[in-house]
Amino acid sequence: MSSFSIAWLDLRENADFAARDKNLVTQALHWLGQAAAPISPDRIIVDLGAGTGSTLRARTTLGATNLACRLVDLDGKLLDEALRRHGKNYLIEDYQADLNIIGELPLTGAHIVSASALFDLASAEFIDALIERIDARKTAVYAALNYDGTTTWAPAHPLDEKVLAAFNQDQRTDKGLGPALGPDCTAYLKQALEKKGYTVSIQPSPWQLDGKDAQMQQELINGIAMAVSEGYDLNVDELIAWKIFRTANIANGNCSIGHWDLLALPR
Ligand SMILES: C[S@@+](CC[C@H](N)C(=O)[O-])C[C@H]1O[C@@H](n2cnc3c(N)ncnc32)[C@H](O)[C@@H]1O
Repeated sequence: MSSFSIAWLDLRENADFAARDKNLVTQALHWLGQAAAPISPDRIIVDLGAGTGSTLRARTTLGATNLACRLVDLDGKLLDEALRRHGKNYLIEDYQADLNIIGELPLTGAHIVSASALFDLASAEFIDALIERIDARKTAVYAALNYDGTTTWAPAHPLDEKVLAAFNQDQRTDKGLGPALGPDCTAYLKQALEKKGYTVSIQPSPWQLDGKDAQMQQELINGIAMAVSEGYDLNVDELIAWKIFRTANIANGNCSIGHWDLLALPR
């Protein structure tokens, strides 16, 4: 299952929704004036790396209506799926674009720029350039589900620490948006936005997975094992034993993977 496939995004969505800090979503909606104001051209949410519209669904599940969303993604299939799911119910504009071309991102009219599970894939250079554009318009920022480098499994296995260290190294390689900040992205985003005078709140949003998330855990174990299988000096046999142990303990064990949500409001 690829990291941006519809199947994977669907599989993680329940855990994502449970993890999201609901107060920050509510504050973001309050900022948008969504409850009081009718849709107007200056009440637009621009969701970057929108996938199939998970961030939009999180807002509507928490009661938001009358949303005007512009969904931006490189992958036309994901955008088509978002439109298929929501095109009739919400005012949605889809925009296929490479986020790397920051000067051309469609931020016109944006009141909030949002992103979920995106900024840990991004480089410091990308974030700096994006914030320049966002700050020029004094647009708010909602950035959810940024991986923080922590993962704990129960029951523990002797190789957990080494696997995590290797995985976190891999998270800092280029994922298409420059050398990724990976676990450092929330701290980086926070200081960069504060430097511009934004008021920034962050809250933890860990995935808490147990036996009911068996398929998602299996995909995570497979993905982590594959990511660290080459280039990180892990013994192949030990890694196979780790994978077998982790898989055997999916049903009765649990797993917590740290993320942070961030809301930045212009002063
Ligand atoms: C981990 S997924 C998150 C999707 C969605 N926000 C969610 O929470 O379900 C990252 C998304 O970023 C998009 N993406 C990655 N690199 C991109 C780029 N260079 N330009 C535009 N979109 C990109 C992928 O296509 C994918 O939809």
